[in-house]
Amino acid sequence: MVVYRSSTTAPVNIAVVKYWGKRDPKLNLPTNSSLSVTLSQDDLRTLTTASASEAYTEDVLLLNGAPSDLTGARTQACLRELRTRRAALEDKNPSLPKLAHLKLLLVSENNFPTAAGLASSAAGFAAFVRAIADLYELPASPTELSLIARQGSGSACRSLFGGYVAWRAGDKADGLDSQAVEVAPASHWPQMRALILVVSAAKKGVSSTSGMQQTVATSGLFQQRIATVVPANMDLMEQSIADRDFAKFAEVTMRDSNSFHATCADTYPPIFYMNDVSRAAIRAVETINQAAGKTVAAYTFDAGPNAVIYYLEENSEAVLGTFYPLLQSVDGWKQSTNFKSTVQLDETISSTLKGGVSRVIMTGVGEGPQKTDVYLVSEEGKPLSTSS
Ligand code: DP6
Repeated sequence: MVVYRSSTTAPVNIAVVKYWGKRDPKLNLPTNSSLSVTLSQDDLRTLTTASASEAYTEDVLLLNGAPSDLTGARTQACLRELRTRRAALEDKNPSLPKLAHLKLLLVSENNFPTAAGLASSAAGFAAFVRAIADLYELPASPTELSLIARQGSGSACRSLFGGYVAWRAGDKADGLDSQAVEVAPASHWPQMRALILVVSAAKKGVSSTSGMQQTVATSGLFQQRIATVVPANMDLMEQSIADRDFAKFAEVTMRDSNSFHATCADTYPPIFYMNDVSRAAIRAVETINQAAGKTVAAYTFDAGPNAVIYYLEENSEAVLGTFYPLLQSVDGWKQSTNFKSTVQLDETISSTLKGGVSRVIMTGVGEGPQKTDVYLVSEEGKPLSTSS
């Protein structure tokens, strides 16, 4: 029996102006625009093969080797939209193979350990949508596909592009203008680096989906964030990227992360994603910037304690030279890392970081989804693994 296959990779993105809040939970429409940097797939990516065959009896998703639920409303919304578009193509052109009604086998793997505690839903949903769109040969641009991926997970819509990506909130009730666009390709500012300090959380915190709903419902500060803080930050951020102005980029990144976490603290009951280790990372970045006499590093935190530190390649010594001596025993440093300490951190900050950072990820700005001929489904329609 014929097995149709298509494979793609998709990247992780880390926002510098955060998405936090839904104005329509069903269509997954946000209360505000957001902007992110796509990270290199050499270090962090999801690989997904979508396949369709008469032989399949149900839709199946295997994620890192384990069966995963496809029945959730958001996944079903993505599948429905993709199948509807394929069916429309088949109606127009009867010579096309009839794929829209076939069941799908989707096999997906991340190239980073799940234990890293990085939210992989953005890369996951972006790869899911891109792989099926490619399988169906949909003539859809990344922006059109972002409308579909958004319904899987908001931040996923930004992972359909490389480089610097905005998700325009839009204001239509049907959400057709709530989509991702490229602000600048990675090649516009390729010197952007990111050091991720993976901080082990004692227990799993509030999920972003539920956390943001609680914030929208209870925080007064949040109203100010969406009315004035974010619109101003979006403008400043886009300008700083256009000008390749790191100091401005960094200040807006840090202020926006602080603003987002302030609305979490203003949620009732309050939500705390950062912990002592996160706060030590903030102090370390401040110390690095003070010692440099200018802003060379910027921290940002999502819905968890991990620190993402953006810096430019030319300032690697100042940033890596501060963290490497402290954290050289943890996994993730690249071979070429041999920086000497340039900045003396306060004793409490050093020991908190040493005790709380479990691994690092060294990466930088990167490209969007890439079609590949590495398949996780065999020609016979059986799941494969890249690691076996
Ligand atoms: C803090 O995209 O995970 O990372 O749309 O409910 O799936 P859902 O939320 P999700 O939220 C991400 C929130 C964030 C900020 C960001 O990535 O912009």
